[in-house]
Amino acid sequence: MGSISTESMYAVVTGANKGIGLEIVRQLAIQGVTVVLTARDEKRGSDAVSLLVQSGLKKVVFHQLDVRDQSSVDSLAEFVKSRFGRLDILVNNAGASGVVVDEEGLRALNIDPVSWLSGKATDAVQGVIQQPYEKGVECLDTNYYGCKRVTEALLPLLKLSTSGARIVNVSSLRSELKRIPNEQIRNELGDLGNLTEEKVDKIVEKFLHDLKQGKLEENGWSLMLPSYSISKVAVNAYTRVLAKRYPDMFINCVHPGYVNTDINWHTGTMTVEDGAKGPVMLALLSNGEFSGCYFDQTEKSGF
Ligand SMILES: NC(=O)c1ccc[n+]([C@@H]2O[C@H](COP(=O)([O-])OP(=O)(O)OC[C@H]3O[C@@H](n4cnc5c(N)ncnc54)[C@H](OP(=O)(O)O)[C@@H]3O)[C@@H](O)[C@H]2O)c1
Repeated sequence: MGSISTESMYAVVTGANKGIGLEIVRQLAIQGVTVVLTARDEKRGSDAVSLLVQSGLKKVVFHQLDVRDQSSVDSLAEFVKSRFGRLDILVNNAGASGVVVDEEGLRALNIDPVSWLSGKATDAVQGVIQQPYEKGVECLDTNYYGCKRVTEALLPLLKLSTSGARIVNVSSLRSELKRIPNEQIRNELGDLGNLTEEKVDKIVEKFLHDLKQGKLEENGWSLMLPSYSISKVAVNAYTRVLAKRYPDMFINCVHPGYVNTDINWHTGTMTVEDGAKGPVMLALLSNGEFSGCYFDQTEKSGF
């Protein structure tokens, strides 16, 4: 990493009351960045801030943010504008699994992490993981549309960054195009030259339509955490479109690793400290480094 003056940087992290998001805030604050820790629940968020401030990280402040609620998003943008006048780093971290899980049943299966990661456990977990339509909608609205809502609201402030704005979209291994059985969808999403936000939205709409009609398998969607997978595929595609549109910014997406948190019912094997390393590295990139890339933890990888 080159030398950038972190002491004068302002960051926003979404979904940061716990898990990887909380740790991203901690690691950025240790580097001297002023961080707005956001959470949809006022108490959970302000409690998290209090603990960080008590530990000596005085430059962490709280603001409420539900990424599904436009008025909450607008209120955050207004807060950042009036308090700091600009933004240097946005970490879109908030995420939902989009499924209903029989946690005891899942534990009883005793699936090893490698099978989870490779998707080999798909058949075994079908009995304990349900994908209702409503959960799919919630997942897409949080992980994909939520990321877009927050980014769009904060872009005017990111454009005012004096140190080169950075957007880090926390993605997942499940985002990788090779995991989508349908070749046409894979090709469309992989064709960067012709990729647009509208195209990505259309694919997401088609997915939700197929989910509602019970046609996921028939139409070649990933059956392992279906809505979660497509939400992260869409986040990656959006990342690439944005990076093309704003060549002066550093806009990347990252799989944080398989981390022990609530979102995977604590099946993850890595610590949050290690999981936050990739997102934090990308938040603090120096000028001239990557944009429009996908990272597997701290290593650049293929979409
Ligand atoms: N853990 C892993 O192995 C892993 C792997 C790949 C990718 N990821 C990604 O890493 C990110 C962080 O996940 P995590 O593992 O730290 O899970 P986590 O501990 O469950 O954290 C998820 C965070 O997102 C917040 N959130 C959910 N819906 C929200 C909304 N509508 N508005 C604002 N915040 C919302 C949650 O808030 P509440 O506390 O209010 O629910 C929580 O703070 C996610 O994007 C996830 O997809 C994780």
